[in-house]
Amino acid sequence: MVMTAQSIDAGSGGEYGRYLEGKTRAPERGSYYLTPEGEPQQAPGRCLGTTVGRAGRGRPLAQTKEIEAARQPYNRAIGAHAVPGQHAVERAERRLRYLVWQVRRELRDLLLRKGMTDSKTAREDLALRFLRGDGIEIGALDYPLRLPRGVSSIRYVDYADAETLRAVHATATGNIVAPDVIDDGERLSSFKDRSVDFVVANHMLEHVEDPIEALTNQLRVLKAGGILFLAIPDGNHSFDRARPKTSVEHLIRDHENGAHASRRQHYEECARWIEGHQGAGIAQRADEMEGEELRPHFHVWDALTFGAFLASVELPARLEALQTTGDEFVAVLRKT
Ligand SMILES: C[S@@+](CC[C@H](N)C(=O)[O-])C[C@H]1O[C@@H](n2cnc3c(N)ncnc32)[C@H](O)[C@@H]1O
Repeated sequence: MVMTAQSIDAGSGGEYGRYLEGKTRAPERGSYYLTPEGEPQQAPGRCLGTTVGRAGRGRPLAQTKEIEAARQPYNRAIGAHAVPGQHAVERAERRLRYLVWQVRRELRDLLLRKGMTDSKTAREDLALRFLRGDGIEIGALDYPLRLPRGVSSIRYVDYADAETLRAVHATATGNIVAPDVIDDGERLSSFKDRSVDFVVANHMLEHVEDPIEALTNQLRVLKAGGILFLAIPDGNHSFDRARPKTSVEHLIRDHENGAHASRRQHYEECARWIEGHQGAGIAQRADEMEGEELRPHFHVWDALTFGAFLASVELPARLEALQTTGDEFVAVLRKT
């Protein structure tokens, strides 16, 4: 049977709207009300409706009064006292809310069908879902995250001032964001524990020598329930593609033994796999990188190996989202 709003007397519960939203079973023809527990129940005895407006519409006054009198114990039982128009307003509000929900769903479908799954859109969608309040972004450089309206303030953090960053990243195309705070994003020693609502670090974690230390400190400065937002290049689709993914054991070793333990290996990997040096050229280039204290991609992940890394280390956080977009993936962690 095709049900229409007219074929159902939804009574005081607005059951049809709730049914359409999947919150109740299909209502049957007849008058319904909601118990205090929210269960739809058919009205007992004669079906009299539950609102003055409904009962009174188009009836002689005497009949309306009779109906009202018969209905009173029932209305008292369900706590629906006869305030003229009250139910009509509630029903209209419910209908409006449902309409808004429908329009939002349609708009979202429209956008998703258009295939807006590029990394910029994915970053912004996740930011819209998760970021609120006061936060920091580490290493924004020339690509700061577009922040949603719920964000009240943002401070930019980098290890060097804008002039140095401009010199180091001479190829950066956009305007380099001047840092508000100069600090090592691996330690965040300028920030107190539990002082911010979110931390963003996009394409930054792969540049640190001890990611476990960085994640620990980034979570340390978050309030409980705060968000750590990490975009990381996908090692299958970047200049790292020939390079082996970093193992969990390697990351634990870097944390337990100190970054110096694998510094040489990191530079040699970069010289070999990223820059393509061979034989003696690898050691020579690694020497140069070490001398210049370059911060290349010390580690390399894809979404799977990063997920495995998160699952293997004990961090005070749970994973809220892990989304790949081809050239990168975004991990959203909530501090527990
Ligand atoms: C590749 S850029 C990322 C730019 C931009 N966030 C993006 O998504 O493309 C890396 C940024 O992280 C910063 N960075 C790297 N290691 C850092 C550290 N230990 N502390 C603070 N900033 C760091 C760099 O200076 C640079 O601004």
